[in-house]
Amino acid sequence: MSHVSKDELIARTKNFVRNHLENAEGGHDWWHIVRVHNNALAIANDLECNLLVVELAALLHDIADAKFHGGDESIGPRMARSYLNENEVDNETIEAVVYITENMSFKNSFTFSGTKSIEFQIVEDADRLDAIGAIGIARAFSYGGYKCRPFYDPGIQPQTKLTTETYKNSKAPTINHFHEKLLLLKNMMHTQKAKTLAENRHDFMLHYLEQFHAEWDGRK
Ligand code: ADP
Ligand code: NI
Repeated sequence: MSHVSKDELIARTKNFVRNHLENAEGGHDWWHIVRVHNNALAIANDLECNLLVVELAALLHDIADAKFHGGDESIGPRMARSYLNENEVDNETIEAVVYITENMSFKNSFTFSGTKSIEFQIVEDADRLDAIGAIGIARAFSYGGYKCRPFYDPGIQPQTKLTTETYKNSKAPTINHFHEKLLLLKNMMHTQKAKTLAENRHDFMLHYLEQFHAEWDGRK
């Protein structure tokens, strides 16, 4: 980094991301980024890592999600790279941040075979934590509403053998997303801190689903 201090770079990055996500869907908006950034700081606190890479990757990881850009997987990492270049961030930091934003997606987890740095693990855990628990439930129904999906359809079973393609193209009811992704995340956490937080959030979702089905059937 040449003449921009770390604090200044983080403040600029927050502004850049907040501006870009102004009209974003509720589950992928600026507040998702704030929560992921906070989760990442909390996880990083116990660990030895490059905090600048963690913070920049957390802030930039959803700058342009392919789901909202006609499926273009390259637009987000490209935007992150050009933003960091314009702000004269050193190449090593840029490469580390862009690598994380390119690869840390659930749909890529079926095939990803590269290595995950500690910074990658922290940011991925931070993002996954925001997909589960009370917030995870709110985000799933927000996205389902945005896509006009039904909450639930007893005639459509969740898919068990997912691939990147079937996951991406699923138009299933929102409850199915719990079984296809959200309930799997607890066992995919890397760091101890995230594993502990995930336990509680996971149990909350199980409890929620039990109540949901009981109400659906008029049992409660
Ligand atoms: P990742 O960011 O790990 O690639 P996705 O972009 O697929 O994962 O999902 C991010 C979040 O968007 C999910 O955690 C969920 O809140 C919401 N979401 C994505 N797909 C669905 C879906 N089919 N139904 C409900 N919510 C979804
Ligand atoms: Ni995210």
